[in-house]
Amino acid sequence: MKTSIALIGFMGTGKTVAGKLLAVKLGKKFIETDNVIEKKAGKSIPEIFREDGEISFRELEIEAIKEAANVKNAVIACGGGMVLNKINIDRLNKESIIVCLTASPQVIMERTSGDADGRPLLAVSDRAQQIKELMKFRKPYYERSADITINSSGMSVDSVVERIIGKVKDNESNS
Ligand code: S3P
Repeated sequence: MKTSIALIGFMGTGKTVAGKLLAVKLGKKFIETDNVIEKKAGKSIPEIFREDGEISFRELEIEAIKEAANVKNAVIACGGGMVLNKINIDRLNKESIIVCLTASPQVIMERTSGDADGRPLLAVSDRAQQIKELMKFRKPYYERSADITINSSGMSVDSVVERIIGKVKDNESNS
């Protein structure tokens, strides 16, 4: 049986906040891949993008996910763009149930408004348009990668976590 849960989804869908609470509630280890990358690189995500470029960041992300994918009994909050490399999903699939969090573009706009500096892909003049385009491009990647999908728009973190726990249980009893 799979013992870990990987949270995937677009920026601002609540993977980190929900993931932390989920890990506490289930007594699992919390791993955030962006955090692992920053520690390994010795610099922040925006610095990696600025100094080394997105391709280097994606290579570090592949390494971080490779390690996290082997950890049993973990909740893994993944960076929003990891679905673009199929190998990440293939590796996670071995030990993790993959839960995709979604939210409407408006909600994502609100949730990311104070933090555009921390998210290099959203540090653009027309953030709304950028969110719309990236979401449209990535939607099929999220859809084909997820075992479970939960829309977090308008939901409290507690409710999102309860929903994840319920759906993971259903998924386990059906498999
Ligand atoms: C990215 C999402 C970010 C981070 C990086 C790139 C993306 O993580 O990995 O800025 O491509 O969607 P969050 O989804 O946790 O914001």
